Amino acid sequence: MADTIRVLIVDDIPETRDHLTKLLGFESDIDVVGSAASGAEAITLATAMTPDVVLMDINMPDMDGIAATELLARAVPTASVVMMSVQGEADYLRRSMLAGAREFLVKPFSSDELTASIRQVYSREREKVSLMAAAAPAASAAAQAAAGTPSGAPKGSGGGEPGIVVAVFSPKGGVGRTTVAVNMAVAAATELGKKVVLIDGSFQFGDVGVLLNLNPKNKSIADLVPELEQAGNDVESIDTFVINHSAGIRVLLAPPSPEMAELITPSGIKRIIETLRKTHDLVVVDCTAFFNDTTLAILDSADTILTMLSLEITSIKNMRLFLEVADQLGYEGGKVRLVLNRADSALGIRVADVEHSIGRKVDDTIVSDGRSVVYALNRGVPFFLSNREAQVSQDILRLAKAVTGERAHVAAGADPRKAPQKKSLFAWR
Ligand SMILES: Nc1ncnc2c1ncn2[C@@H]1O[C@H](COP(=O)(O)OP(=O)(O)O)[C@@H](O)[C@H]1O
Ligand SMILES: [Mg+2]
Repeated sequence: MADTIRVLIVDDIPETRDHLTKLLGFESDIDVVGSAASGAEAITLATAMTPDVVLMDINMPDMDGIAATELLARAVPTASVVMMSVQGEADYLRRSMLAGAREFLVKPFSSDELTASIRQVYSREREKVSLMAAAAPAASAAAQAAAGTPSGAPKGSGGGEPGIVVAVFSPKGGVGRTTVAVNMAVAAATELGKKVVLIDGSFQFGDVGVLLNLNPKNKSIADLVPELEQAGNDVESIDTFVINHSAGIRVLLAPPSPEMAELITPSGIKRIIETLRKTHDLVVVDCTAFFNDTTLAILDSADTILTMLSLEITSIKNMRLFLEVADQLGYEGGKVRLVLNRADSALGIRVADVEHSIGRKVDDTIVSDGRSVVYALNRGVPFFLSNREAQVSQDILRLAKAVTGERAHVAAGADPRKAPQKKSLFAWR
């Protein structure tokens, strides 16, 4: 590695600071530029030294690690925080993420875990900076298109403008991510004439293949691993492993067995997405329901994150947390699109209640249609094809139009096509 990673250590216990300094002293690519005994000292030192990574103890007297991380995010936004804690509780982890920490280490950790975390947050941050630099011209072009000529002209596949990447995510499982990802991909391909590729981003327990009735012996993303380990930009052999499906879309399946999931790295999946967007109009990724580094990499790469929720208390609570995290990660309001699935299922919660609770309007709704969905599932044919006239299919098509017709950077109000799409499932619309 050419650059050294500049690290600041923050811990109130002197022995811990010494120990960590010694451990990191063995690494040629890591340079400990200072150590602080308190949150306040950490802010002062970080402002002066602008470290790349701050190793932050969560439990400190006076200002704790979470408060210090929050201040640091504003004072030195280029520094990525790795939080250290003796407690591995979900609440600590969540609060750290919300404060802006990028990684969470539970003490005692091995020196391998420590250095891997430091390198990972560092390279993720660098990748983000370079992607943002690369995205800047595209963003201004999109803004110009929104102001003047229509921006939705079909792209010639191959060459020209890169395709749109849509991640279908939810902070809770079972809310319809795979259902929506598959059918939206099919709708965009068959009805809107887009060249679409669907990636099963649920690397451990992906079920895109099940919905599309694909043989698990098919080629999958796991076959790309050897190539991902080599340097380079494009994943050259990718077309060999993408399956052409009779529903009109192309599919990159998840690995055939769960333990292969960890072979897919964040930079690997990013390269796959970047390669595929060059030759497709639309790249749809069906994500897992939890945050890990690969999911984060997918969300980072996406132009639009379709965030699915349902009318259930747990779904709503998780959504509120996700929106806060999305904010911390710097995803603009326009990038995150809220999709309420099974929106008409009467569970005692009204859409207005949901919106009030999460402090945001729902962007799209999809009706509940157990018959169409289950029939399609059993036959392995997407309901968009087998039951094209159903309301649920029309809702999916509306969603497909919304995500392909606009870029995430375009402000919500700036797209004239958006208004008529807001349909009347609910009184407030
Ligand atoms: N709009 C809908 N109407 C009826 N059932 C649905 C709808 N969307 C999803 N489902 C059902 O809900 C369950 C979970 O959907 P799935 O797409 O597998 O969710 P996820 O991928 O988020 O775990 C499945 O049984 C699916 O058939
Ligand atoms: Mg799923």
